[in-house]
Amino acid sequence: MPEKANILMVDDQPAKLLSYEAILNELGENLIKANSGREALEHLLKTDIAVVLMDVSMPELDGFELAEMIRQHPRFQRTAIIFISAVHLTDLDRLKGYQRGAVDYISVPVVPELLRAKVSVFAELHRKTHQLEVLNSELRRLSSSLIASQDEERRRIARELHDGLGQDLVAIKMMLDGILQQEHSAPKKQVAADVSTLIDRTIQQVRSISHLLHPPLLDEVGLRAALKWYLEGFTKRSGIETDLDVQPSSFPRMAPELETAVFRIVQEALTNVFRHSGARKGWVTILKQDGQVVVTVRDDGKGISDYVAEFRPDSIGIGIGGMRQRVKEFGGELQLRNSNPGTIVEVVIPGKLPVVFDQPVPVTAQASGNNTARPTF
Ligand SMILES: Nc1ncnc2c1ncn2[C@@H]1O[C@H](COP(=O)(O)OP(=O)(O)O)[C@@H](O)[C@H]1O
Ligand SMILES: [Mg+2]
Repeated sequence: MPEKANILMVDDQPAKLLSYEAILNELGENLIKANSGREALEHLLKTDIAVVLMDVSMPELDGFELAEMIRQHPRFQRTAIIFISAVHLTDLDRLKGYQRGAVDYISVPVVPELLRAKVSVFAELHRKTHQLEVLNSELRRLSSSLIASQDEERRRIARELHDGLGQDLVAIKMMLDGILQQEHSAPKKQVAADVSTLIDRTIQQVRSISHLLHPPLLDEVGLRAALKWYLEGFTKRSGIETDLDVQPSSFPRMAPELETAVFRIVQEALTNVFRHSGARKGWVTILKQDGQVVVTVRDDGKGISDYVAEFRPDSIGIGIGGMRQRVKEFGGELQLRNSNPGTIVEVVIPGKLPVVFDQPVPVTAQASGNNTARPTF
């Protein structure tokens, strides 16, 4: 059952209002009557009106003036208005002034079918617009909670890998090395030594998977340290040289969500540099100035197409889509441009969100390496 649209009928003559009501009743929408422009404005402010139906000439406030007032209010800029006028059509040139919103007119004598048709088109339009707004906000809410739960999930898997699988592997390795100390035949010793080497490699792998999923440095030391670590690893894995510039040198800690977001954006942008750019070098800069944070990732590769720079849905993937979503959540802006040669990914996050920015972040007391009671991983 679609919700009813509110139709506001404005006329100073009660008899006319009754006749509009009789005509429009069968549409099954919610009809509201107003005897004056002032009363009409009161309804508009209180209720979500889909269509205003009004007489052009009313004593106290003429229809055009009322329309002007309605349009001046940002909330009503798209409210549909249907004028009813005894004036001949050619005199309605003034209506051209209302191009911003949906405007239509009907002349007297009113043809019932015509009035119903016009009103129902606008009512339907209003319903569809409203549905779209609801769906859009739902989509925004979903995608932002998706990102949050993805971060949370990565953190959890990283911890699990580190504390569970990682610790078990270390224990296995210690036991094996213990066995290796004992007397054995040479071939057996060789097998055990090979297994031990293999376990070392596995421990390294689990460890780097865990850290890439969620770098512990990000929580413990901060963005700069985590990025430095990530860039070094990236260069080793990809062969692409990288340069990191963080300003000011005493870069402050920021809210954990913001540090994670910036880290993920750089990670995603560099993954793209590796996968798509053919670049030999990448530059990452993080600048905090006047409260705002500016992040750029530049490469000297082949550059991006206009389609990608314009965020055409069929040209961008989850990578850029996700970056955009993260940036939006902080009220910021993402831009992709060619830097001839290469691509610049630029993110500007404004400092106007005091709740999110620069909260004192408690630094986790023990880094994982300090705990000597347990074998470290
Ligand atoms: N640094 C870059 N250099 C060249 N092209 C890029 C770069 N970054 C992104 N692109 C282009 O943008 C497209 C969309 O990127 P993305 O949204 O991350 O999706 P995906 O990486 O899965 O293709 C890529 O397929 C690529 O064509
Ligand atoms: Mg990508």
